Amino acid sequence: MTRFPLDEFATLQTPFYYYDLKLLDRTLKEIKRTARDPRFKVHYAIKANANPGILRSIQAAGFGVDCVSGWEIEAAIDAGFRGDRIVFAGVGKSDNEIRLGLEKDIECFNVESEPELRAINEIASEMGKTAKVAIRVNPNIDAHTHAYITTGLAENKFGINLEQLEEVLKLACELPHIELRGLHFHIGSQITETEPFMMLCETVNRLQDEYEAKGIHFALINLGGGLGIDYAHPERHPIPDFEAYFTTFHNHLRLRPNQELHFELGRSIVAQCGSLITKVLYVKEGTTKRFAIVDAGMSDLIRPALYNAHHKIENISNPSGELHHYDVVGPICESSDCFGQGELLSEVKRGDLLALRSAGAYGEIMASRYNCRPFPASYFSEK
Ligand code: LLP
Repeated sequence: MTRFPLDEFATLQTPFYYYDLKLLDRTLKEIKRTARDPRFKVHYAIKANANPGILRSIQAAGFGVDCVSGWEIEAAIDAGFRGDRIVFAGVGKSDNEIRLGLEKDIECFNVESEPELRAINEIASEMGKTAKVAIRVNPNIDAHTHAYITTGLAENKFGINLEQLEEVLKLACELPHIELRGLHFHIGSQITETEPFMMLCETVNRLQDEYEAKGIHFALINLGGGLGIDYAHPERHPIPDFEAYFTTFHNHLRLRPNQELHFELGRSIVAQCGSLITKVLYVKEGTTKRFAIVDAGMSDLIRPALYNAHHKIENISNPSGELHHYDVVGPICESSDCFGQGELLSEVKRGDLLALRSAGAYGEIMASRYNCRPFPASYFSEK
């Protein structure tokens, strides 16, 4: 259970992110315990949170890293990740980013289109290198998640459609500076049901059989990320059910004996260890509503405004007062700058600190400087 050191918080300028490094460590240990098949390799999806303090823990625990830009590759290397533990995805890799990946001898480029494959081959040829690649397949699976974060449907911009796959795989086998390593998938994020993952297993099994019959073998299969977390009950489920997650693939995916199975988990690793701590500036009585106006806004945590997401809100200054309903809103000049409507909170007064829970993933990293506000600071618990 995350403990908030209120005495320390009293000296800090709000809003800020607070990370429970003990919980992060327990989460990393649980992944290692449950992903025990030696063929399973987890790459942390750095897009979820690239705070150096978080990256160091993940790197020290021995995980690889999944990047989607050259800047993420640099952040990963600065945090101590080795080039050969970096995989690089993204629909729009620039020539410079491809060059950086090749310079760092990364583990794998996850390639999303035929022209990208040709560009990587050309740049690798100029540099006298061979690029290891996996082809990202768009498996047309509905992950039953928010439209903005579903990625595996046919009309998404991601990956190569099943009808074009054979042609692209053949090209990958022919191009002289490309080493085809495998297939890459990612069907969406915040997936809380087993069914989409089972469907993914079926698709992978079918494709492997089909291509093996045609003489194409894959050294690795990468299943992407997507495992969801419990936003409603961060205390009840501080660590996602990794056992069930990995068991699904263990039981349903027909992995070949020496094949590696890669996972790119982001949210499930870091979401629950982070909270956004904000101060109540005013409690304002409207005609029908009571507002708690706080000093954090959508520039600090954009998920509620962008995806209608809900982060559990707690009054950590007064945890056991009388309960009242509040609309918790930020100071930014947009109606969508709202963290919750009708939130049942222990009585709130000016100066109280509220914690917006489960904000470790896609929180700090998606912060902006809207309204010329500064980026939020970050602090860490003792390990
Ligand atoms: N691999 C690929 C290719 C991805 O596109 C993503 C996330 C991941 C791995 C990591 O997925 P995770 O394990 O975190 O679900 N900003 C949104 C989430 C966007 C996810 C984008 N892709 C949010 O705040 O909910």
